[in-house]
Amino acid sequence: MTRVLLTGAAGFIGSHIMSALTAGGHEVVAVDGMVPAAHGPGAIAPDGVQLADLRVSSLTEMLDGVDVVCHQAARVGAGIDARDAPDYAADNDLVTARLLAAMFENRCQRIVLASSMVVYGDGTYRDRSGQIVDLPPRRVVDLEARRFERYLPNGEPAQWALTPENAPLAPRSYYAASKAAQESYCRAWSLETGGAVTALRYHNVYGPHMPRDTPYAGVAAIFRSQLEARNAPTVFEDGGQMRDFVHVTDIAAANVAAIERLTSGVDGAVGFEAFNICSGQPISIKQVAETLTTGIAGPAPLTTGRYRPGDVRHIVADPARAATTLGFRATIMPERGLREFATAPLR
Ligand SMILES: NC(=O)c1ccc[n+]([C@@H]2O[C@H](COP(=O)([O-])OP(=O)(O)OC[C@H]3O[C@@H](n4cnc5c(N)ncnc54)[C@H](O)[C@@H]3O)[C@@H](O)[C@H]2O)c1
Repeated sequence: MTRVLLTGAAGFIGSHIMSALTAGGHEVVAVDGMVPAAHGPGAIAPDGVQLADLRVSSLTEMLDGVDVVCHQAARVGAGIDARDAPDYAADNDLVTARLLAAMFENRCQRIVLASSMVVYGDGTYRDRSGQIVDLPPRRVVDLEARRFERYLPNGEPAQWALTPENAPLAPRSYYAASKAAQESYCRAWSLETGGAVTALRYHNVYGPHMPRDTPYAGVAAIFRSQLEARNAPTVFEDGGQMRDFVHVTDIAAANVAAIERLTSGVDGAVGFEAFNICSGQPISIKQVAETLTTGIAGPAPLTTGRYRPGDVRHIVADPARAATTLGFRATIMPERGLREFATAPLR
């Protein structure tokens, strides 16, 4: 039996990981700060979850006898403006740094980190010959003219491609910067201490108990909340943005697989490793809205042509590395999962 310190255990993803670990016979030390940005003011920690703000709490007792830390706690979402930056730095960078220091002191050598596709910034693109290309940012003049796709400087259209784990990190938001920072702290810690880090770069996660529409929520929850209010989901650009939507129970399974690999003494499970965690079945944002609409028999999506200059056009994950190394393959494909999510409870 493995003893796991699970941070963010009351969160959307953390609560599913807690169930999966318990079902798998692991012992879970569950902690969460019940941060108001995630849970609203005055929320109470659920049964079995210890209330602790990891920015300031003593971590020594929590780490007693722990084999692996599964670090899910974070401030999530895009935020509103630059005034959010210190909170992202505190809840994400600082908490990770404190955890790693305490792990060093308590001789805990393994961590599974909840990372994100946002560390890549934009996705990978290829030119007509199949070469990976570095593209200039989209121009406002093109977006205004509803030319949303990506183009090479010579005007040739670029084709989206699967983003592999060795793609450069190029965060584009304070949240993304803090997720990349979490990875960087973990990489440095691993180099210095010889500890093992598995960073799981989740793509667009959805499923039961996802938070409602807030500046910190994902697009699936935003569409879902619009449909619940009997409004049409409003789709930015032309809806052709490609993403990978992965069900939260698959995310939980990927965490269990990563934890079990780190504790199994498998050759190679050392140092810092990163994996895309995705369904492997790309879907457009318009298809996401349409599938949800079908699931709830709601009004058809409205494609607005509006745009946000910072938005990424396409980002689609390569699932191969997680499959070969972690043995992780998603089991719920977006077509089915999103239809069910249309009527699933939200937080
Ligand atoms: N939901 C997604 O689509 C998605 C995608 C990629 C990565 N992730 C990552 O997955 C992890 C879990 O995200 P989620 O969607 O479940 O978010 P969530 O907001 O539902 O859960 C995060 C939990 O962390 C807790 N927390 C935040 N700051 C804390 C602190 N200082 N001390 C103690 N607890 C604190 C919150 O109270 C919350 O319960 C995060 O690390 C997030 O960056 C999520």
